[in-house]
Amino acid sequence: MTNIEDLRQTLFARVSATNEPREILKAAELKQLYTVLPTLDPSERGAYGKAVNELKVTLEAAIVARENELEDATIEPLDVTAPWDVNSALPALLPTEQGTQHPLTRELENVIDIFTRMGFEAIESRQIDDDEHMFGALNFPANHPARDGYDTFRTEEGFIPPAHTSTMQNRILKAGKAKLEAGGHIAAVSYGRVFRNEDVDATHEHTFYQCEGVYVSETATLGEMLGTLQGFFETYYGQKLKIKTQPGYFPFVEPGLEFAIEKPAALGGKPGDWLEMLGCGMIHPNVLRSADIDPEKYRGFAWGGGIERLVMLKYGIEDLRHFESGKLAFLRKFA
Ligand code: PHE
Repeated sequence: MTNIEDLRQTLFARVSATNEPREILKAAELKQLYTVLPTLDPSERGAYGKAVNELKVTLEAAIVARENELEDATIEPLDVTAPWDVNSALPALLPTEQGTQHPLTRELENVIDIFTRMGFEAIESRQIDDDEHMFGALNFPANHPARDGYDTFRTEEGFIPPAHTSTMQNRILKAGKAKLEAGGHIAAVSYGRVFRNEDVDATHEHTFYQCEGVYVSETATLGEMLGTLQGFFETYYGQKLKIKTQPGYFPFVEPGLEFAIEKPAALGGKPGDWLEMLGCGMIHPNVLRSADIDPEKYRGFAWGGGIERLVMLKYGIEDLRHFESGKLAFLRKFA
């Protein structure tokens, strides 16, 4: 019987060492076992037959296990964290360049970085909202024609993919109310994608990005707002800039202004080339009231504008449609 045990160990070792485990069943030593049977004393034959059978069953199981092991080894594990071409079977035939951040993502991060360093908290805007946040809480009376200026899309249920980041103002004000009452101030920027039902051309897109600021304290002034904005633009473009404002109408600010910078010579501008960059103004008392903030005690300013416009000026991009085109020739310029 011990020689059966010895044989088991030998055969198992061979199974785990070979790439053709099923061949082991043809081993001469196995056949040998059967020729021994008739030579045994009849009283021993039962136990011997059983032991041989057991050997065959366990050997078969070891062969199947080895076959599975070999099959697993031929499947390369997929590393989802690896650069994409590593997982390809034919890396030599594929381009090896890596993906990069989209220029809008990168520039939006720059913008947010500047405002955060100025002390503003950054909050991502929503991509679906309701009439109350998009218009009602922002002092747009029901059926007021100013609503039409925003060319909003609407779902069948009446929800709105926001047409401006001002849709976040009421939430920012409500969330900051406790800070005001504790003697502090509200300073936040909201940023994200906005949507307008516009005819697309070189300067209009149905989908674009905005960044918006909201500041409220007991003493906020228009002068502080202009200083904040000038500081932002000078940091973003890395040079001194001239600024200009003119009256602008937005129901949620009073007074409301349009804010322009003079196109810098370094970016191809001539004196007197004014570029309108954003809308801004002192937050309307009704907007503060809709967040339950007392307009007799607190005052604030807000501004909001498009990101693409900033980036287009910085890099001399002539057509807004490049951003959402997915064209690699365009994207590679920013790699
Ligand atoms: N939400 C306005 C727009 O998209 C811009 C704006 C923001 C104006 C905040 C004033 C204050 O046109």
